[in-house]
Amino acid sequence: MKILVKKGNLAEAKSQAIILTFFEDQKKLAGAALQIDQKSGGLISELIKNRDFEAKQSQVSVIYTRDLLPAKRIALLGLGKSAEADLDKIRGAFAKVMQHLRSINIKEAATSIDWKLIAETKEKIVQAVVEGALLGLYQYNPYKTVGREDIKEMEQLNIICEGKDFNLIEKEVKKTQIITGAVCFVRDLVSAPSNEMTPSILAKKAQGIGRKKGITCKVLDKARMKELGMNSFLSVASGSNEEPKFIILEYSGAKKSEAPIVLVGKGLTFDSGGISIKPADKMDEMKTDMSGGAAVMGAVMAASNLQLPLNIVGLIPATENMLGGTAYRPGDILKSYSGKTIEVINTDAEGRLILADALSYASKYKPAAIIDVATLTGACIVALGDDVIGMLGTDDKLKSEINRAAKATGELVWELPLWESYSELIKSDIADYKNSGGRAAGTITAAAFLSKFVGDFPWVHLDIAGPAWRAKDITYIPKGASGVTVRLLVEFLRNRVKK
Ligand code: BES
Ligand code: MN
Ligand code: ZN
Repeated sequence: MKILVKKGNLAEAKSQAIILTFFEDQKKLAGAALQIDQKSGGLISELIKNRDFEAKQSQVSVIYTRDLLPAKRIALLGLGKSAEADLDKIRGAFAKVMQHLRSINIKEAATSIDWKLIAETKEKIVQAVVEGALLGLYQYNPYKTVGREDIKEMEQLNIICEGKDFNLIEKEVKKTQIITGAVCFVRDLVSAPSNEMTPSILAKKAQGIGRKKGITCKVLDKARMKELGMNSFLSVASGSNEEPKFIILEYSGAKKSEAPIVLVGKGLTFDSGGISIKPADKMDEMKTDMSGGAAVMGAVMAASNLQLPLNIVGLIPATENMLGGTAYRPGDILKSYSGKTIEVINTDAEGRLILADALSYASKYKPAAIIDVATLTGACIVALGDDVIGMLGTDDKLKSEINRAAKATGELVWELPLWESYSELIKSDIADYKNSGGRAAGTITAAAFLSKFVGDFPWVHLDIAGPAWRAKDITYIPKGASGVTVRLLVEFLRNRVKK
């Protein structure tokens, strides 16, 4: 959908539907709403008086203007109680109204933004409105061939403003479109089925990003990884006929001498569990096991489009985890890229094996920080549910930066402890470590395992097993791939610039 910023007055806008926001506890109409109510002979106040519209969070009521206004319809949008309003409620409400208008075959709408909605900067409010609208309208339908003519699409949203805000809004809309574009790019990658999102195809997508200014993309093939000794990663790949790829995206937005931020993403294009095979139920969802890798690609892409003055590296080990005569086995001992040895207890604990080599590889950049993103453990869903990202790490400052970005973006993050004692659970009798510590504290022992392969750099691990894939629609995340952590990482990076 296109978003155009226009100078003018909403009451004068010729539009299919003008969107007006209201609070539940709002005593009287003000601003554009008051003007429109007066011009339309009290259309809005009548609805409110009769309590057809109570302005509950994300409530939508559409009324016809019957030529009393240039606009054909008014869409009243509820924002709930004013004291409880925040950026995420704004995102959710704008997603809802746009989805509603789309469902009644409207292709174009107009709104203006009330700066008094919440106590946030104008930039953040514009961002929330645009994110809500664009992320909420996302749909994935490249494989639908029957009934394509019924697919509805919103084409245009006009943001009408006073002249003095025009530049600010236009600039912020552009930035937000870069971010939502990256989120939707990631949703597309994750939604794609594993037969059409192999490691090679994922690598091609990364090379596509690499054609952008300031980014280079290198892809290490199997032979090169063998030379380098990435045996932990290669063992996971050994059961698959698809060649593994180690994707390296380097974005240079700052001086060469400046230490980069390294983002590492788990890129399992399909996780069958390997010899320790998963149950059939929901195995199809394991096409999403590259969500972390995709999110890293999206974040690097957005950072470059925003021209952030930072150096950023994205590392994405990409492979399938399959079974077969050449597959790795429980009991195998692997020599990782770092030289440390790993006893395989469970071939389904494969994410940590590929990340181990990628995290060790990150050391060569002498990074300012390392953040890895992975659909790593089912245990994280047990602990925190479907909505929440699990965070573990060794650096309090980096964790607080992530927490700050989480609050701004509404991507919920909760920290789990990573005390040294948990490392006892991943000690192997005959190798340095084992790849599974059993059921207890599964998310933590996975992170403890990763920590053994991170050099002496500030590091945070984000487990997105829950929120990467949504079983049902929630506010501005239509069911399916969420693109989670793209906005979180971009916000984190933008905050790094401001320092
Ligand atoms: N990719 C899975 C984790 C996962 C499960 C993500 C459900 C999203 C939804 C991961 O590779 C895995 O299988 N982890 C095992 C680890 C165990 C064998 C130690 C798990 O969580 O059961
Ligand atoms: Mn697995
Ligand atoms: Zn996995």
